[in-house]
Amino acid sequence: MRLSLPFALLSLLSLTVASPVRRASTCNGSPALCSRLYSNVTFAGAHNSYAIAPSAQTNAGANQNVSLSFQLDMGVRLLQSQAHASGNSSATGAGVDLCHTSCSIFQGGALEAYLSQVSSWVSSNPSEVLTLLIVNSDALPASRFAQAFESTGLASKVYNPTATGAATNGVVAKSAWPTLGALVDAGTTVVVLLSSGADTSSVGYLLPQFANVWETPYDQTSVPFSCSVDRIDSSSTSSNLMYLSNAYLDEALFGNIVIPAVASLGDTNSESRQLENAYACAGTHGTAPNFLLSDYSQMGEYGVMKAAARLNGVEYTEPTSSPTSRGSGSGSGSGSSSGGSNGAATSPRSLAAMAMGAAGVALLTL
Ligand SMILES: *[C@@H]1O[C@H](CO)[C@@H](O)[C@H](O)[C@H]1NC(C)=O
Ligand SMILES: *[C@@H]1O[C@H](CO)[C@@H](O)[C@H](O)[C@H]1NC(C)=O
Ligand SMILES: *[C@@H]1O[C@H](CO)[C@@H](O)[C@H](O)[C@H]1NC(C)=O
Repeated sequence: MRLSLPFALLSLLSLTVASPVRRASTCNGSPALCSRLYSNVTFAGAHNSYAIAPSAQTNAGANQNVSLSFQLDMGVRLLQSQAHASGNSSATGAGVDLCHTSCSIFQGGALEAYLSQVSSWVSSNPSEVLTLLIVNSDALPASRFAQAFESTGLASKVYNPTATGAATNGVVAKSAWPTLGALVDAGTTVVVLLSSGADTSSVGYLLPQFANVWETPYDQTSVPFSCSVDRIDSSSTSSNLMYLSNAYLDEALFGNIVIPAVASLGDTNSESRQLENAYACAGTHGTAPNFLLSDYSQMGEYGVMKAAARLNGVEYTEPTSSPTSRGSGSGSGSGSSSGGSNGAATSPRSLAAMAMGAAGVALLTL
């Protein structure tokens, strides 16, 4: 008894001293990734992650056919979306809808509905770092997006390099990105990039995409994919930025209108095709792509996620449930997930007619 008291005091003391610092032990599924800079990780990405076909049938305006939560569960860690001013005069909130090219072609619902789903997944998965890339199609002010991030509660989980001093005008040098472990420890596991309209003096966490991440050409219609520098901020140097490889394949539908080449998905999304592309890009640019953007991302036997894991030197674990049971039913199924009116399948022909009428422009980017 005489000896146990000091020991008890000592252990109490050491508990008090050791408890405050949280140290993530697993990041994005692997202990090895906790010490890696965010800018030195390859993330699997979903192109138009909200544009989910309502059933196993392909909708010509869709790019995915499993629910947003399934995309995340299977390992997608970059969710790309396309924002448009809502045409709904009775819309509440920020008045931003996720639509593909035009809301008459694919209406994916309000930004808040989408961010709420992301927010609940992020809350349940606190050691997973993910990126949202939002294409600001109608040049909406950053404050409109911020309204949706704040009302859904997601803003508190978004990394803000303006507040921490890591960014200058929203640009974080590649070497100044935190590690995944630091992001997890801070509880700020979401990075948000806005294609245009970022204004970090007013919203510090909505970062200018093309001054942080450049892209290879999009809407490519043949493989092997091109790794060339396509879109980048005019004052940036590609070697200083992270980059995104548009590793999805399109095919011409009508004139310059292209749609996903769904018949080729098994090859396009295979681990070998994705690795071939990533190694070629790494050969040209010195590092592997930071983001591999894909259509129907689960296709090719999860090859996009497998390729990302291989590039990161870690193991990929397939989801335990099958996409068919999650992607096409009700409940967590795809069509209902976005809260939008995307129920009716758009045939390629009617899409072409709508596109010609709605856009009347030479190039339509689907
Ligand atoms: C998704 O679309 C592809 C291509 O059309 C199809 O082969 C696959 O069965 C679909 N999967 C689901 C879950 O709907
Ligand atoms: C328009 O917004 C209102 C209010 O949020 C909503 O109830 C309605 O479903 C929306 N209409 C369409 C076509 O999205
Ligand atoms: C991470 O760094 C390693 C070692 O320099 C490099 O081989 C790899 O391509 C890098 N990955 C990314 C996405 O930067």
